Amino acid sequence: MPKTLADLRSRRWFTAGGMRAFSHRQRMQQQGVRREDVMQRPCIAIVNTWSELSPCHAHLRERAESVKRGVLLAGGWPFELPALSLGEVIVKPTTMLYRNLLAMEVEELLRSHPVDGAVLLAGCDKTTPGTVMGAISMGLPTIFCAAGPMLNDRYLKPGQAERKVGAGTHTRLFWDEYQAGKVSDAEWVQLEAHMTRSPGTCNTMGTASTMTAIVEALGLALPGSTAVPAMDAAHTRMATTCGERIVQMVWDDLTPQSILTRGAFMNAVAVQMALGGSTNAAVHIIAMARRAGVQLTLDDLDAVGRAVPVLANLFPSGDRLMEDFHYAGGLPALMSRIEAQLSLGERNVNGKTLGGNLRGVRVLDDAVIRPLNNPVSANGALAVLRGNLAPDGAVMKASAASPKFFQHRGRAIVFDDPASMNKACADVTLDCDENTVLVLRNAGPVGAPGMPEWGGLPIPKKLLDAGVRDMVRLSDARMSGTHYGSCVLHISPEAAVGGPLALVRTGDWIELDVAARRLHLDVADDELVRRRAAWQPAPESVARGFVKLYRAHVTQAHEGCDFDFLQGTDTTPEPVIY
Ligand code: FES
Repeated sequence: MPKTLADLRSRRWFTAGGMRAFSHRQRMQQQGVRREDVMQRPCIAIVNTWSELSPCHAHLRERAESVKRGVLLAGGWPFELPALSLGEVIVKPTTMLYRNLLAMEVEELLRSHPVDGAVLLAGCDKTTPGTVMGAISMGLPTIFCAAGPMLNDRYLKPGQAERKVGAGTHTRLFWDEYQAGKVSDAEWVQLEAHMTRSPGTCNTMGTASTMTAIVEALGLALPGSTAVPAMDAAHTRMATTCGERIVQMVWDDLTPQSILTRGAFMNAVAVQMALGGSTNAAVHIIAMARRAGVQLTLDDLDAVGRAVPVLANLFPSGDRLMEDFHYAGGLPALMSRIEAQLSLGERNVNGKTLGGNLRGVRVLDDAVIRPLNNPVSANGALAVLRGNLAPDGAVMKASAASPKFFQHRGRAIVFDDPASMNKACADVTLDCDENTVLVLRNAGPVGAPGMPEWGGLPIPKKLLDAGVRDMVRLSDARMSGTHYGSCVLHISPEAAVGGPLALVRTGDWIELDVAARRLHLDVADDELVRRRAAWQPAPESVARGFVKLYRAHVTQAHEGCDFDFLQGTDTTPEPVIY
């Protein structure tokens, strides 16, 4: 239903009679805003996750000005609202601990202020789902303006072919080579200065690029906007367009609820698979769907993963970077390749349907966005595994794993924490070989807490020296989307709440069968019953604060790790203005 000036939410603050509205307008005038600016225009929140400790968002302060220009051009009035900035590499112990805090903050920021619509400025891994989850729950018209990927980098070494270098993916790769003596001290120092060339999000198909693409596929971002490089002039123009567009969205009452259908979520899942996207998306997309009241499960992800091949030739599944993806046509081009798998009637924030937006779109570089008959991986991006070790599911990024491990049986070495794991893996006398299955537990949502990205367990030094670069690794943790390897992640329920992972012992045999989607602990049932009877949860180690709240209310990985009291579509009343 189109809105008129009289319908605007901000009018409750600014145009009612009495002392309160007087005070609100007075406080606007205090900072130089004219009374007609807030009384006669839609008020737009620019939720900005900029901070000086969030390098991927270093340019968002400037971009907020571009968004403001667009809002003003369209007849709105912008207000920039700073929100928690979660720089993935810097924030400890893990940004995932704070995703829900950001979601709560965004929801309450929007609720408590006189705004009619929102532009979300975000992009680093958790800031995208965090801001979007909050905006879904608040329900105001919202457009997502992605921070955009950083510039490409390349690595030149005398006598070797040039290598494209991607943030995250190559940090781990060069670290392994450095540990094995293949990269010198001087090169290691040089890499530190060169691998991340500009502000912007990681330039691989890591969690950041996966999540911004998913939000675009959901219809919450302008077509093609999320792959525009952060330092491209097109990014500034795109930000202005976001500002312009949100004002019309307010008049059209184009809310997240009117965009986020099950079809939209299934489109986003198809995109995740075609991109070879991050396993982290499995957690975030379920969390976002639950906020929107859409039923989406790991089984949906697995089914789409079997049907949609990986077409985007991007690290870590392929060998190109996000800048290349943008030049190849970005997400609309990729979606045009999998059009048969998509629900084309879904709406986008630009007011058109997906089908309308894809009309005439073509892939501009087949080497970056592969044709269906020449995929990067026909195995699918994501496999959901189940078995007596993961009754509620576990995930594996099949496209970034070694096919030789797709059917595997190995002896477990179990670690209860990352410190003992790192110590043991650095010990060249560790009793292991490349068939060993490394297990890390107590790294899930409750156990760690916050489900950090510890799931790319290190290869033991002894095996690195022997040239081993991959082996089967299991955990209830997540793994960075930029990383690769045969890692089974998000085992649910996690060990800390008594999941079967808690019962594994060093020396047990573990079986992995990706084709059969099976993860099995080969221990007799009566022995497992004995072990369960002896199992005790770790004593509560946190007495107060946000972490205590987090541990008490976070859901398991297969449920999206949202807080139980934030899921669903129940509405919160508008604030009383008295
Ligand atoms: Fe911010 Fe990778 S560290 S996107």
